[in-house]
Amino acid sequence: MHEARTFPPPAELAEQANARPDIYDRDPDEFWETEARNRLSWSTPFTALKEGAVPYVTWFTGGRLNACYNCVDRHVEAGIGDKVAFYWEGEPADDKRTITYADLQREVVRAANGFGSAGITRGTHVAVYMGMVPELVVTMLALARLGAPFTVVFGGFSPDSLAGRIDDMQCTHVITQDGSWRRGKVVDLKSNVDTAVAGCPSVTTTIVVRRTGNDVVMAEDRDLWWHDVIAGQSEDAASCPCAEMDSEDLLFVMYSSGTTGKPKGVMHTTAGYLLGTSTTHSYVFDIKPESVYWCAADIGWITGHSYIVFGPLVNATTSVMYEGTPDFPERDRWWDIIERYRVTVLYTAPTAVRTHMKWGTQYADKHDLSSLKVIGSVGEPINPEAWIWYRDTIGGGRTPVVDTWWQTETGMIMITPLPGISTLKPGAALRPFPGVTAEVLDEEGNAIAPGGAAGYLTLTSVWPSMLRGLYGDNERYEQVYWSRFPGRYLAGDGARVDADGDFWLMGRIDDVMNVSGHRLSTIEIESAIVDHPEVAEAAVTSRPDEVTGRAVVAYVTLKGDVEGDAAKASELRDHVAKVIGAIAKPANIVFTPELPKTRSGKIMRRLLKDVAENRTLGDTTTLADPTVVDEIQRRAAAMA
Ligand code: PRX
Repeated sequence: MHEARTFPPPAELAEQANARPDIYDRDPDEFWETEARNRLSWSTPFTALKEGAVPYVTWFTGGRLNACYNCVDRHVEAGIGDKVAFYWEGEPADDKRTITYADLQREVVRAANGFGSAGITRGTHVAVYMGMVPELVVTMLALARLGAPFTVVFGGFSPDSLAGRIDDMQCTHVITQDGSWRRGKVVDLKSNVDTAVAGCPSVTTTIVVRRTGNDVVMAEDRDLWWHDVIAGQSEDAASCPCAEMDSEDLLFVMYSSGTTGKPKGVMHTTAGYLLGTSTTHSYVFDIKPESVYWCAADIGWITGHSYIVFGPLVNATTSVMYEGTPDFPERDRWWDIIERYRVTVLYTAPTAVRTHMKWGTQYADKHDLSSLKVIGSVGEPINPEAWIWYRDTIGGGRTPVVDTWWQTETGMIMITPLPGISTLKPGAALRPFPGVTAEVLDEEGNAIAPGGAAGYLTLTSVWPSMLRGLYGDNERYEQVYWSRFPGRYLAGDGARVDADGDFWLMGRIDDVMNVSGHRLSTIEIESAIVDHPEVAEAAVTSRPDEVTGRAVVAYVTLKGDVEGDAAKASELRDHVAKVIGAIAKPANIVFTPELPKTRSGKIMRRLLKDVAENRTLGDTTTLADPTVVDEIQRRAAAMA
């Protein structure tokens, strides 16, 4: 907040930017309506922009369209089928593919025909559990083509997490691969599916891409190889017309951690989602026909859905997509890719920037990164030091850094600089995107004037790609987002607006943590730890971490006065990985004979957070036994 440096837009970018300064003067309804008519192709045009009142607003009444048609077919029909959609870089050296829009169409049509033969049709619910292979994009588009809503589950999630999502959506089909490559090793996906599906009676069929060639068990009455499913299928678009969908038809569900143990099924619908993602993609990254764009996220998260798949493809963009990690085979993998493809836009997370920063500038210095014009950040607050490093080392001191704030629920970027207009401040996301309005409120729900204190970030009007609810749980939807300040969307983040009216995001204010840009729930991790037979109680909180942003800290009491040790801690970490996934493993486990509780028996997480953050303890007067925290502090200090 004391950061005072500013960076005006580079003149050449400002002169030809997609967004002109008067974009901020546009009336939100006029803005979205114009974008919707110009940017999307409708088989039946909509008759009204929106209908209803929060929290159940619908958009583009009466409109009919298909997401796959908007992402693929219409570009081929418009004569740009030869344009590259993806430069794909597999992890094994020389495993590369260049996929044009015409190639993509052929592959999608073939897959959609094959999926049809495997029983997938309009309205079928499908779970997708894959790595970063072209077949993942093809799968999402083919399902959209057929009108089959899907949920993509990040490949790092455990069988239990996968099963929970399959079960919640009652999926009948699962699409997966034998394994995926990660640092030269095979991550076994199919066997996780086997474990998950064993407890999911809704599943009749799985389709398996052969990627790594590892041994897998194929259940005769359930499992099909992808190559068999698509064999002999037509790749002619006319053989598989795009299903005409209503604007509000469910496109996909993305499960995201909330403040309870059960992940929330965030629902996104067809028209609004496509519009929100493509409009922001164009203006925030200043995408031109010749741009080579790279969002280095995983498609298993919302960032990948919105800014690897749907937004860029609606805009007929050429993208890079890669499998693997930034440090394999070498730590210069990203910079080598940027140099070879002359990438113009890079979009990544602060945790990745800080990791590269820790490795040193020598890896980036080896490569010509002069093609970059705009670089972006998402997922957590970016500290000014990382922001400056990113701009200087990767952006050559030239490129704007767009710090984009948004969420799984918002579907699209909501608070962000526009690179040709905004004067940047390191660490600030600056302004609501055109057509978006936000306000920071105090405890009582009063707006805090610019230059004032931090408070609750709220969105004060609706936007096209907003979540349409939580799958099967309206009550939770209303309660989580719309009840604290009626009529406004509560983001769950703290924010502050400076005297210039610019927004600074401060991190989560609820029981959600951002670790390496991944969203984790304290309660979900607590439940996973308590699930271990030797654990009596657990409380989870987080502390700051130089690389991952936040790090998970767990306080654990074992059953029967047993003292924990390093071996037990590592066993509990593995248990969390088994229940949720490796991303949720606690960085620290502090064993304690008791957890601090109020007289009514409520665990005082606030005090545990003070201990984790090495702060002076807050008010301890309501503790049943104040000596408990002293003991925890002593143990935590001994571990540090
Ligand atoms: O806390 C905010 C943080 O990430 C949360 C949303 O997480 P998720 O739904 O997983 O989506 C991540 C990718 C959009 C937010 O509530 N967050 C995201 N972007 C930023 C951010 N915090 C600060 N600055 C950002 N630019």
